Parts: sequence; C-alpha cells; structure tokens
Amino acid sequence: MSYPRLPALTRRTFLASAAALSAGAMLPPQSNARAAGLREFRLRAGPGRAQIAPEPYGDTAVWCYGGRLPGPEIRVRQGERLRIAVENALDEETTVHWHGVRVPNAMDGVPLLTQAPIAPGGTFTYEFDAVDAGTFWYHPHHRSFEQVGRGLYGPLIIEEADPVKVDRDVTWVLSDWRLTESAEMRDDFGNRHDMMHNGRVGNTVTINGRVPDAFPVWKGERIRLRLINAANARIFGLDFGSHGPVVIALDGQPVEPHAPQDGLVVLGPAMRADIILDMTADAGSRVSVTDRFYKDLEYRLVDLAYDDRPLRETAPDWPVALPPNPLPEPDLVSAARHEVTFNGGMMGAMVMQEMGGSMGEGSSGAMGGMMGNMGAMMDMMHSGGIWFINGVAAEGHVMDPMLTLARDKSHVIAMTNATAWHHPMHLHGHSFRVISRNGEPTRYREWQDTVLMSPRERIEIAFVADNPGDWMLHCHILEHQAAGMMGVFRVA
Ligand code: C2O
Ligand code: CU
Repeated sequence: MSYPRLPALTRRTFLASAAALSAGAMLPPQSNARAAGLREFRLRAGPGRAQIAPEPYGDTAVWCYGGRLPGPEIRVRQGERLRIAVENALDEETTVHWHGVRVPNAMDGVPLLTQAPIAPGGTFTYEFDAVDAGTFWYHPHHRSFEQVGRGLYGPLIIEEADPVKVDRDVTWVLSDWRLTESAEMRDDFGNRHDMMHNGRVGNTVTINGRVPDAFPVWKGERIRLRLINAANARIFGLDFGSHGPVVIALDGQPVEPHAPQDGLVVLGPAMRADIILDMTADAGSRVSVTDRFYKDLEYRLVDLAYDDRPLRETAPDWPVALPPNPLPEPDLVSAARHEVTFNGGMMGAMVMQEMGGSMGEGSSGAMGGMMGNMGAMMDMMHSGGIWFINGVAAEGHVMDPMLTLARDKSHVIAMTNATAWHHPMHLHGHSFRVISRNGEPTRYREWQDTVLMSPRERIEIAFVADNPGDWMLHCHILEHQAAGMMGVFRVA
C-alpha cells in the first residue's frame, strides 16, 4: 500500500460510467447448433488495450480474454455442460482454471500437474458440467502473478433453475492495477518485495475494468450484486453506507442470508460474495460505497446514484434464500484430521517465536523443530523460498502430495497461519465448510473454496474428498503462491 495513487481522477458523467458498469456482455454461444444442455464457447487470451484510468489518461496495454476487460461473462444454467475452446494468442504459455467450479481433475487448468500448458498459437478445449449454481470466475494458472495481474480473468455465472427474484442481477469484477503516472502498467511483476510482503497491491481500483464514478440505481430497486475479487493481492472490505446488504452466497455457495459482520463485505483475492442490496435511500441522492479494509487507507470506490424517480416506495419483501447445491455433507465424527501450517514472509521467524517457537501440532515431523529455530528459517528463506506449507516451499505445480486424502471420506484440515500476514487459502476441486476460527465454531458454517486467514489465525475446514486427483492448495495472493505458498492434496 506504499505506492502512490494516481493523481486526482477526473469525474465522469453519470451516463458514461453507467455504461462501463453494466454487467459484462454475455458471450454468445460459439455455434447456433446448441445441443441440448451443451453450451459451447470460445475464449482467446491475447494482448489488448483498455481504458482503465478515466480520460484524459490514455488507455493501457493489457492481456485479456476476447479483447475485453474483464473477459466476457460466461453464463449458463446449473446442470448444463460447458465446452470452452481456449486459444492462446499470447507470446507465452497459459492455461485456464475455473475457480471454484468442481471440475474433473483433467479440466482444472494446472500446468504440468493436470495438463500440458497451452503453447502460443495453441488451443485447448475444456469440458465440464455446471454442477453447482453460483458466482465463479476463470483465470490462468500459469505465471498467474503476471497473467492475472495484466488482466486475464472473467466471470463465470451459473444460474439456479429457480433463482431468487430481484430487479437486476449485476456482476462487479473488482481489481486493482499498479499504473505509472501516464497510466501505463508498471511491469515489476513478481518482485521480491511484493513476494515477501502483502503482494502486488495496486494504486488504481476498478469495477469491471474501469475506474468507476457512479452506478445508477432506483429507489425501491432490489439488486443481486455478484462481487468477484480478481485482484492479485488487494483485500476489499466494502461498506455500502446507509444500505443493509444481505449476504446470500459466498464463493458461489448459498449461505443462510445474513448481514455481514461489522457491516463490511470482506473479500480476499479470488473470493466472491452474492449480496442482496435494497436501494433504500432517497430518489435523487448519492450514497458512496467505501472500501475500508486497510486501516487509514479508506477510499470511495463508487457512488450509488439514485434516479430522480423511484421504482417503488419501499423495498420488496421477496424471499432471498437460495436453494442448496449438491454438496456432500462431511461427517465430523468420523472425519480424518490433518494439520497444515503456513509460515514464512517478512517477520515470519518472529511470529514463530512468538507463537511458541516450536511449530506445535501444526508441523510435520522434523520440520517442526527445525523451523522453530530462527536461524534455520532464515537459511531456508535465503535458499529461495519465501513462504512454506508444512515446511516446504513449492517451486512449481508438480510436487509430491503433502497429504493423501482417502476418497469419499470426510476430512477436517486444521490450518494454522504462523505468519504476520493475511492469506486467502484456496483449495481446488472441492468446496469446504469453514467450521471453526481460533477454536470458536463459525456461526454459518459457510461453504467456501477460498478462506481468508488473518495473521496468526487457526481455521478448521471440513469436506468430503469426493473428487479424485491431485489438487492445489495455495494462497491466492499470487505473489505468495509464486514464492512457494502452494502444495498438492491427492484424493485417491
Ligand atoms: Cu483461482 Cu489455484 O486458483
Ligand atoms: Cu499469502
């Protein structure tokens, strides 16, 4: 967060921004021959240009899908099958990962682990079923700290057969950018400082690829707002002012409708939230949405700009609960238990000493004692890795599994964040229930695929390992992932 903000951005007119903020256009089916239940799409990853900062700034060179930022919204119905041909028009290899979707292992988009990377000029066709309804997204899994950071991502929306009734269903893909004073992309991707600290946090925040000014709304309107954090590293904590957002889904999965804690919708990188937002302020007024996640660095993200005429006088009383997805319920009594500990980063050794020197139960074997020693930790960091899972810093996606999970059995993973930093930890191929935080049972036992861990926090997750294959567990701060913070779970 020590990077300068762009100098004052000019205000744009309500209408211009409104156009930029409309939900991403739906990608047309590739062919008009649409077999029953099969939806075909084509995505092209390549260089492009986008008006990220408002005029009079120029546009910015980006990498993106289909020439647009964010990539086109793929929208299908639950139960349909997707076939997506990905064409690589970049100068380097790439893959696509369907974040949060429970796909077969071979469709997971992890280079070398689940597929050969797509060479420049090459094409790979992904095919999988939309088993869960919800808000998902897609992005490369190859050098993602640069490929995602330059703009390769897009929303993937799977609609319920019977969705909750709203006036508008809107997707906001949030991201941020590190731009120069002339709105060019700073190209210091993957630098060691970002890797050791909180990642590549940018200086310019966008909604759907543009710096927003206003989002038009009508008094009495009900919006289902699908929030997707596509940033490399920025964590958002959104305050909707006088509005009372109701969270109805997290990471695509329905949750008991509730007001967010402290009124803030918190999203670490890769996380999603679906909220019901009733427009309760006065016609003609403006209410700011503020991001308050980082202390003393609050800023106005966007204004909700009310039309002079109301849509209706009071909020509708339509039900907001979503139907559940077909997730197997873990049995906590018979579940196998596993420990996973994260450490490293700046001040990592200090945190470990403060947490008791030894890695406690969280460590596997010899590493616990060794990692408890500050000197040994510094040696490991100097050998290249910066972040460690159970004492191992990953150097690529191919590695021995850190855990093998018995297939179709319930598992509880106790994860300890022995670092001074936040980490959004993402598991592929499964959604998990977050069952406790620092020993306290969670109120909503929410299903997630990415859980934001606070410094020194201990979290238990539970799930049935029903999807066979090798699956990544990694931090979704993409600089942390690149600097070692990933591992493989084998489900067999
Ligand atoms: Cu969204 Cu392994 O990633
Ligand atoms: Cu991290």
